[in-house]
Amino acid sequence: MKATLGLATMAMVAASMLAVGCGKKGGNAQNGASLYQAHCASCHGTSGLGDGPAGVPLGATNLTDPAMHARLTDEQMAERIRKGGTKMPPNPALDDRQIADVVAHVRTLRR
Ligand code: HEC
Repeated sequence: MKATLGLATMAMVAASMLAVGCGKKGGNAQNGASLYQAHCASCHGTSGLGDGPAGVPLGATNLTDPAMHARLTDEQMAERIRKGGTKMPPNPALDDRQIADVVAHVRTLRR
């Protein structure tokens, strides 16, 4: 009985570790795609080229640029989205989960 309980506990711990691990691994790009269209595309363009109507005059970054992807870690990108940049506004309405999803989507824009 004790052994069974121990095993069950271990299985539960392993399962929760797996769940946390998955969360760390990155966001859901599909969910991120709709968040991106709502919060980012006006500046960065629907396909990330930086050609959104509000982004052109600001010089919004081309998010398809492989050099940008190589330079920024997921954490750095998340931080930029959270806090904004010099001309990019912050995104206080997005929680960490949503920001991770947006980062996952932005990674798919790389060309
Ligand atoms: C109002 C226009 C605007 C919106 C909306 C906007 N950005 Fe930006 N973004 C910019 C501009 C301009 C820059 C480059 C200068 C700066 O950092 O302000 C930039 C830079 C970036 C960079 C590059 C940072 C670097 O270090 O090179 C990333 C990544 C980025 N934006 C992602 C996003 C994402 C994801 C969203 C949506 C959650 C978003 N942006 C929304 C204007 C915008």
